[in-house]
Amino acid sequence: VLPSAVALVPAAGLGTRLGAGPPKALRLLAGEPLLTHAVRALAAARLVEQVVVAAPPGDEAQVQALVPEALVVTGGDTRTASVAAALAAADPAYDVVLVHDAARPLVPPELVDAVAVTVLEGAAQAVVPALPVADTIKRVDGAGLVLETVERADLRAVQTPQGFRRAVLAEAHARAAGLPATDDAGLVERLGITVLTITGHDDAFKITRPADLDFAEALLAGRRARA
Ligand code: CTP
Ligand code: MG
Repeated sequence: VLPSAVALVPAAGLGTRLGAGPPKALRLLAGEPLLTHAVRALAAARLVEQVVVAAPPGDEAQVQALVPEALVVTGGDTRTASVAAALAAADPAYDVVLVHDAARPLVPPELVDAVAVTVLEGAAQAVVPALPVADTIKRVDGAGLVLETVERADLRAVQTPQGFRRAVLAEAHARAAGLPATDDAGLVERLGITVLTITGHDDAFKITRPADLDFAEALLAGRRARA
């Protein structure tokens, strides 16, 4: 068992909400694909030794050329299937597995290490970065009528990378059986295993809509101006 981590990168999504164009992981930010930024941030983390990318089906060769240091596998129809494909290809010698969205290209390497070290130290078998939510959140019914206002102080928006003991993530995916899940921690919760949150980072935000790309461009320009 190695005292470091392997990072899985689901990158096979279409980016439908971003509008027409290539798969989201291949869209450009400051002239480079989102995937390139994301893999660079993971590789810059001290505790990440292997990176496995789940590529859009048909784009495997292009993805491999972009990230020659990574192991590239074919992604699936859902994010969960893409993560499962990457996990199956990862070196089983790593006891700690991180899962990081290609759509979060500006994650600070320090956050990656913070998640990995929290799992490695045994604080929990599953660790997710999370931030308080800014908006008030309400539960509604199908007609849009408000059922309740959820206590905002109890809510967190979760990010990636999410970190797991390998066996826990493998068991969670083995039992996922096509059930919808938007993150891996959600699958682990279904096993009854406790998931620990640590403080996330604003820069780990997910690129979902076109304005998110504009925001990322500005954030990166600011970083480069300060460097
Ligand atoms: N993802 C994946 N395989 C899928 C679907 C999503 O690997 N079949 C990945 C995406 O590439 C992304 C991450 O999961 O890095 C988060 O998903 P999301 O933000 O929903 O990206 P997309 O599915 O590409 O976007 P959209 O839902 O707008 O189509
Ligand atoms: Mg999606």
